[in-house]
Amino acid sequence: MPFDRTIKIAPSILSADFANFGQEIRAIEAQGADWVHVDVMDGHFVPNLTFGPAMCKAIRPHIKTVMDVHLMIAPVDPYINAFAEAGADVITAHVEAGPHIHRTLQAIRATGKKSGLALNPGTPAAAAADLLDMVDVICVMTVNPGFGGQKFIHSQLDKIRSFRKMIGDRPIHIEIDGGITSETAPLVTAAGADVLVAGSGVFSGGSVDKPEVYGQNIAAIRAAATAAQA
Ligand code: DX5
Ligand code: ZN
Repeated sequence: MPFDRTIKIAPSILSADFANFGQEIRAIEAQGADWVHVDVMDGHFVPNLTFGPAMCKAIRPHIKTVMDVHLMIAPVDPYINAFAEAGADVITAHVEAGPHIHRTLQAIRATGKKSGLALNPGTPAAAAADLLDMVDVICVMTVNPGFGGQKFIHSQLDKIRSFRKMIGDRPIHIEIDGGITSETAPLVTAAGADVLVAGSGVFSGGSVDKPEVYGQNIAAIRAAATAAQA
């Protein structure tokens, strides 16, 4: 995974057909997805349940790009090795998921995988200030985690700007997760983001039988995002 700040679109398979992940992943990658975002939820840290390491392992052979695993689980540490062995390229944990996020990031890095740190909308950028040397991806949540299809929270734009300043020229991606469409994408890239997760924004209107809609959605988000990039 060489580092650069060109815009990357990461469709979230939370909005895909759960009975058909293999085909869905092949479709979004053929239609221009840069990363594949995989939302793991535990019904405890967030009020929803999705899937675990066995599912991640099962879909891994279908992913040719980057498997970006967003862990919305607490505790995190007992499961890190399982997600690493399942083939994740990026493993993201939440700063709110426990008292020892520094240890969690160390554990992720120890697996040889890229480490991500996610922040809920109510958590200030300062909560990550002493952790930047341990992260490859900062994930700013622009919805409260748990569900796809929620409305973008505009107050998070200041947080993105703060991270862009804090990061400087360090090789750390700023990923945005929640409510990304071709309307909100330019706001976040103007503020400094480079990786855009989009679930409903990519999958709505399309299907594995109509994959060109995925391509149109990805292209529209990418065009709007790139034109506004800081
Ligand atoms: C929310 C997830 C997101 C979600 C985004 O808890 O982390 O990745 O799938 O969905 P949209 O793009 O529909 O807001
Ligand atoms: Zn996510």
